[in-house]
Amino acid sequence: MEKKATQTLEEEHHIIQTVVGAMAALAENMDKGMAPEADTLRNLAEFMQVFADKCHHGKEEKILFPLLEAKGVPVNGCPLGILIHEHQSGRKLVAELAEAVEVYEKDSLKGHELLCASMRGLVNLYPNHIWKEDYLLFPMTDKILNEKEQQELIKRFELVEKDIGLDVHRRFEQLAATLAEKYR
Ligand SMILES: [Fe+2]
Ligand SMILES: [Fe+2]
Repeated sequence: MEKKATQTLEEEHHIIQTVVGAMAALAENMDKGMAPEADTLRNLAEFMQVFADKCHHGKEEKILFPLLEAKGVPVNGCPLGILIHEHQSGRKLVAELAEAVEVYEKDSLKGHELLCASMRGLVNLYPNHIWKEDYLLFPMTDKILNEKEQQELIKRFELVEKDIGLDVHRRFEQLAATLAEKYR
């Protein structure tokens, strides 16, 4: 049996979870007074903005959710409405994280609080969001879509990857591994 589109999204979840785990450890270290390098923080913010939000949430929100909606899944309420709302909350927190990194580079003391707040918000949001998708959304999707529709979805996801750049995807995978290695 060929790989399902939902499996590729689940694999991306593992990569995102790795980074969110590193972010939790980083926030804890910062609570103890550690001052991380701006470079690490910039990479972290870029990963969350590009890999997690633009690429991964983009595939879900612009491709998968509309397809499910067309198949009769209500867009309001559970599960799609809730997931879309969480994507919006995540997007706001990620924008705050990127801003906090900029502040931190100019004034580490002022940036410290902002960084911790946005990272904690993301650490609270993401694991539960991913759980809902892995255990509710994807099993539901696998029930609704047939083999051919899953394969069509994969092709559309590949176009998103191409658009962002395959080397970019690989670079972020490497970055996730490096962050996990550094903060675990
Ligand atoms: Fe999502
Ligand atoms: Fe997801």
